[in-house]
Amino acid sequence: MIPSDLIKLKEERKFISVLTAWDYWSGGIVEKAGADVVLIGDSLAMVCLGHPTTLPVTLDEMLHHAKAVSRGFKRPFSEQPLLVCDLPFLSYQCGEDKAVNAAGKLLKNSRTSAVKIEGAEKETLKVINRLIRMGIPVMGHLGLTPQSINTIGYRKQAISRQSQEILFNQAIELEQNGCFSLVIEHVPEEISTKIKNKLKIPVIGIGAGDNCDGQVRVTADLLGLSDKQPPFVKPLIKGNDLFINHLKDWIDQKSL
Ligand code: KIV
Repeated sequence: MIPSDLIKLKEERKFISVLTAWDYWSGGIVEKAGADVVLIGDSLAMVCLGHPTTLPVTLDEMLHHAKAVSRGFKRPFSEQPLLVCDLPFLSYQCGEDKAVNAAGKLLKNSRTSAVKIEGAEKETLKVINRLIRMGIPVMGHLGLTPQSINTIGYRKQAISRQSQEILFNQAIELEQNGCFSLVIEHVPEEISTKIKNKLKIPVIGIGAGDNCDGQVRVTADLLGLSDKQPPFVKPLIKGNDLFINHLKDWIDQKSL
């Protein structure tokens, strides 16, 4: 899968599945499950490293996880899911050169083929533009952008008509600046639908209603492995309980 394949999937009205992975094991299971795109999300700061937010995770840590996820993929390269890695907090906010360096490091040293960046501020658009001109595909991310948690809080975004208008215009700017797809997180369905209908690039929702071109989930949330479940994701299984109970049974059986 390459970035332009996702646009074809939207044109053919085919659902786009995006799942996160953070290590060799999770990379292997999401590839086997058939995800179109695997995202090494900076949510791994929470689900895998135990941080309270995404802010502490570093570029070197993201690269370490990206390498492990890459090793989890077993199919021939041309049949693998598209591997996208989040650029972590402060790896792109300090200017275009730093961002090219950070994204280049991920592409050079792992099988990452594209990066995801949060927001559409004037400075961010410049960064996105430069990365794309340098041959690095970019996935956008709007709505609840967790790297801005200290300014916007962890809550539903784009509630008012005015903020919906801002979001709509930002989505158009991201497409015009060359993003190959756009994640929209925790916003009302009416605005994600309006954006999906307007854009040619696929809109991938999370907590943004069922009407998007595709959906992204943090795999640990879907499997019931996260400490804190987001309000908009219902786990498919109670993974933590399941593992603990089976391990307890094994320990109990081994006790003398
Ligand atoms: O970090 C992440 O896992 C993400 C998804 C929630 C889209 O950005």
